[in-house]
Amino acid sequence: MKKLSFTTEFSVYENKEQLPSEIKELMEMAIEIRKKAYAPYSKFRVGAAILLDNGKIVLGSNQENAAYPSGLCAERVAIFQAGAIYPDAKMLKLAISATADEKPVTSPIPPCGACRQSIAEYEFKQDIPIELFFMGESGEVYKSDSLKNLLPFVFDKNHL
Ligand code: THU
Repeated sequence: MKKLSFTTEFSVYENKEQLPSEIKELMEMAIEIRKKAYAPYSKFRVGAAILLDNGKIVLGSNQENAAYPSGLCAERVAIFQAGAIYPDAKMLKLAISATADEKPVTSPIPPCGACRQSIAEYEFKQDIPIELFFMGESGEVYKSDSLKNLLPFVFDKNHL
């Protein structure tokens, strides 16, 4: 018997003001689109902004449904939209911000498991890493250099 271990790494910015200006702007777009979330059930609002290698920015916010599982997270709204509109573009950076109507969200909110798997698909497809930046509504911003840091031992097309 042997054991395997995986290490993962994030960079931590004290707050969004410390981000490089291009990323700060992307994060501010995630914050703006977050305000358009349709989240009457959870009252948890998430915004996502993706910078593509063609210079375009694609946005998404979470969209809920009375049949709860039919709703979709902000990250998948954004990446599926980017994949649908710009199928040949590469996704370079993804900024995410989340807030809640009923309590302050001061720690970074990472993408859920299903979003990680969905983002992974595009990272494998384009064969260059997607940098992820995620925060709450204030406080620290975590940066991951690749989706792989968020989903070690990922299942991907190479396993098929
Ligand atoms: N949500 C996102 O938009 N992204 C995530 O990664 C986590 C959760 C949304 C889904 C749902 O509308 C609400 O937040 C509460 O789970």
